Amino acid sequence: MIKIAVTGGNGQLGQCLRRAVKDQELLDVDFQDLPDFDITNPTTLEAYFSKNKPDYCINCAAYTAVDLAETQQTLAYAVNAEGARNLAEICKKHQVTLLHISTDFVFDGQKHTPYHETDPPNPLGVYGASKLQGERYIQQIMDRFFIIRTSWLYSEFGKNFFKTMLKLSETKHEIYVVADQFGNPTYAGDLAEVLIKIVLSSSNQYGVYHYCNNGTVSWYDFAAEIFKQFKSDVEVKPIKTIDYPTAARRPAYSAMRTNKIENTFSCTIKNWKVSLNKITNLRID
Ligand SMILES: NC(=O)c1ccc[n+]([C@@H]2O[C@H](COP(=O)([O-])OP(=O)(O)OC[C@H]3O[C@@H](n4cnc5c(N)ncnc54)[C@H](OP(=O)(O)O)[C@@H]3O)[C@@H](O)[C@H]2O)c1
Repeated sequence: MIKIAVTGGNGQLGQCLRRAVKDQELLDVDFQDLPDFDITNPTTLEAYFSKNKPDYCINCAAYTAVDLAETQQTLAYAVNAEGARNLAEICKKHQVTLLHISTDFVFDGQKHTPYHETDPPNPLGVYGASKLQGERYIQQIMDRFFIIRTSWLYSEFGKNFFKTMLKLSETKHEIYVVADQFGNPTYAGDLAEVLIKIVLSSSNQYGVYHYCNNGTVSWYDFAAEIFKQFKSDVEVKPIKTIDYPTAARRPAYSAMRTNKIENTFSCTIKNWKVSLNKITNLRID
């Protein structure tokens, strides 16, 4: 039996993982979250890791409010940077392998071809900078880590663009969506499956990996496809980033190359429309 501790277990990815591990007989997975399990509190972590002795820790805990982070810098860094550092230290001490989730927002979006793991990061906002600092702490402190950068996560759980669009379509006939930011919409359920695959592989090919669904589109394209698949007659209209001011700057292009994770773990990268189609028939809260 492989023992796994999941932090942020009530978040979007955490809930996808809960579902994904249900039929995994080889895995003993314990889901933790606030308020009892706070990754910014080293004392809590020490008590938990000493008692439960997991083999792996999957860190789904994060401060993910991209715009709010611009004014809540201290909190964003406490969770995304110091929290990651605390986990790295405790995992190192207890010889636990850490799977940590990071983001395409560590990049500045100046490239025009998909980002490689080795491309230099240069975050535009506090959220991306705090996640990058978390990555750096992990790399400095420990060896047995997988940092998996993902992008534009959505699912039937939590708050995300997909659910926001569906909610808006209940009350609006037309919706304006940014058409000059490009990236890879990624179904969190697919990411959850890949995280399990990495654990089950018992691989020691530690390092940074990019994982996202296949297909580079704009938020406008993403919205249009959501309404197409949900057979909604809402009209989606393209707008420019400049016409939709937000507190945080976002990369204009943050598509990622996934060859490394595909080759190392023999995972198939699903097309984003195919994955979106999988949840089309699910009940969305
Ligand atoms: N969502 C995206 O579009 C996206 C894109 C790229 C990468 N990512 C990364 O993917 C990972 C999963 O994201 P997600 O969408 O699942 O995020 P999420 O839904 O916001 O879930 C994060 C979870 O962490 C919890 N949490 C916050 N602070 C904590 C702390 N100090 N200690 C323990 N738990 C804490 C949150 O609890 P509360 O809700 O109570 O705060 C929540 O349950 C994150 O690392 C994120 O940076 C996300």
